[in-house]
Amino acid sequence: MSEPFTVAIDGPAASGKGTISRAVAERFGFAHLDTGLLYRAVGVKMLEGVDPVAAARALTRADLEDGDWLRGAEAAQAASKVAVLPAVRAALVDFQRAFARRAGGAVLDGRDIGTVICPQAEVKLFVTASAEVRAHRRYLELRAKGSDATEKEVLADVIARDERDSERATAPLRAAGDAQRLDTSHLSIGEAVSEAVRAVEERYKAI
Ligand code: C5P
Repeated sequence: MSEPFTVAIDGPAASGKGTISRAVAERFGFAHLDTGLLYRAVGVKMLEGVDPVAAARALTRADLEDGDWLRGAEAAQAASKVAVLPAVRAALVDFQRAFARRAGGAVLDGRDIGTVICPQAEVKLFVTASAEVRAHRRYLELRAKGSDATEKEVLADVIARDERDSERATAPLRAAGDAQRLDTSHLSIGEAVSEAVRAVEERYKAI
């Protein structure tokens, strides 16, 4: 397919949206952008003493490549702090919109893709799970990487980030009115991916 086709996948931390997004992109041959990485990269620059707005304006692909550091808990908290700044969000809009409308289809996952970045997306999913289930998943992931954080600490982190993301004035975490909700609390990864693939397929076939 050479036309643009955007799949917007939003949801809170550790809801499963990243795994689902990668699987959908692979299944349909679409490009994938984890927009959380943009905010994490800006957050890390802030921790290094750079002004976050200047960092967002100057962000390059190379800044997105330090995977382990960017995916850690410290980068996540820093990301959700810079993500409340309207000027940081504004600096990242054009890149995300251009990515979304590239030829051949794109999946973007984040918090505001269906509401702000791509309100016209062909498919919108809002992926959720209870805070306890999400914290448990994140805890297992962190433990596998050798972290000694307790499940209680991880739950507190998840709740703090949910609050900051949902309560900010600009582009808060919220399902678009026309998004399909996918609660993964009681689904395996395979089941969650199948549901998402089905939702994309329905719309993809209709075009
Ligand atoms: O998705 P991830 O957990 O990597 O995102 C890190 C943080 O970046 C989120 O907690 C949120 O504050 C911010 N973010 C955002 N908008 C997006 C993606 C991420 O505000 N589209």
